[in-house]
Amino acid sequence: MRLSSLAFGAAAVSVADAWGGFGHITIGYLASSLINPNTTTLLQTLLHNTTDFYLAGVATWADSVRYTKWGRFTSGFHFIDAKDNPPHSCNVDIERDCKQTAGCVVTALANYTTRLMDESLSRSERAIAAKFVVHFVGDLHQPLHNEDVARGGNGIPVLFDGARLNLHHVWDTSIVEKLVGGGRGLRRKPYEMAKRWAEELVREIEGGKFSRDKEGWLKAANLSDPVGTALEWAREGNSYVCSTVLPDGVNSIVEQELGGEYYQKAAPVVEAQIAKAGYRLAAWLDMITASLHAQALTWTPEERQSPSPPGDL
Ligand SMILES: *[C@@H]1O[C@H](CO)[C@@H](O)[C@H](O)[C@H]1NC(C)=O
Ligand SMILES: *[C@@H]1O[C@H](CO)[C@@H](O)[C@H](O)[C@H]1NC(C)=O
Ligand SMILES: *[C@@H]1O[C@H](CO)[C@@H](O)[C@H](O)[C@H]1NC(C)=O
Ligand SMILES: *[C@@H]1O[C@H](CO)[C@@H](O)[C@H](O)[C@H]1NC(C)=O
Repeated sequence: MRLSSLAFGAAAVSVADAWGGFGHITIGYLASSLINPNTTTLLQTLLHNTTDFYLAGVATWADSVRYTKWGRFTSGFHFIDAKDNPPHSCNVDIERDCKQTAGCVVTALANYTTRLMDESLSRSERAIAAKFVVHFVGDLHQPLHNEDVARGGNGIPVLFDGARLNLHHVWDTSIVEKLVGGGRGLRRKPYEMAKRWAEELVREIEGGKFSRDKEGWLKAANLSDPVGTALEWAREGNSYVCSTVLPDGVNSIVEQELGGEYYQKAAPVVEAQIAKAGYRLAAWLDMITASLHAQALTWTPEERQSPSPPGDL
């Protein structure tokens, strides 16, 4: 790659939102297409939204609050910094990698799962918990949210179809956008495009290329052990750091063009991770709803009328 031949005027982008917004919105749609009707009722009631968008519409909320005064305490909840040694060895160790004070995505998913089920909490607290669960299941499936190297790849400058970006951004956004196509349309109408992609992935899960894998995707899901479940999903995401994100180490991709051969290998992993995240999120929300029996579906009249949870903090 002849670096000098490229225009390097633009400031390096350092967006830290996992899966950009688009991946999260797709995961929300995917889950809402797959969950059972009782779960739909519960979550639509909790989130005050009876449209098809009730999950997709809250999927990026956690990224919008992490930089606010209210939500600052959640900024460490989106990832786990695995101090492994890619590409030679990949692994996640909760004792080593989950920060004592700031927390991590594994303990955060467990915490908000428990809070979503806690009927002693206020309804708005439980709505907040639901939004975090939707988001953190997504984050766990982005390989670089389970990796410490160069701040999850934020410090690794690369090129993608000529644009100067960092590796984290490429895995959050660029690969997904190229895979789905649509260019600027995708940024202008993310909900429509995400819905269409989610419908395609549902077909692949139900009768297409993922139909045989999907049973295995739920192997680790155990509502009695949410930390163990999240840790298994984090380990799986982290394993792709060795196999696909950094197969030849960091130095082999610094300042290199990743829109070609690298993209060809990465795209199927990204597609499968998004499909898994949506499928697992649906199953997880179904398990949560089933554990609540019928109680949760019969909110008292006051609860039905309680004001919307803080949606736009
Ligand atoms: C439901 O969510 C969607 C997406 O966020 C939003 O556009 C719509 O206005 C919401 N509907 C209600 C009734 O709140
Ligand atoms: C659990 O959630 C509560 C409420 O948002 C928060 O105060 C607490 O820090 C969270 N704990 C963990 C381990 O994420
Ligand atoms: C689920 O987790 C609980 C609590 O750790 C454990 O006792 C149980 O054996 C687990 N179930 C399965 C199927 O692994
Ligand atoms: C939905 O809830 C009803 C009433 O509690 C229950 O009878 C039914 O089995 C539930 N359906 C599923 C799929 O869990």
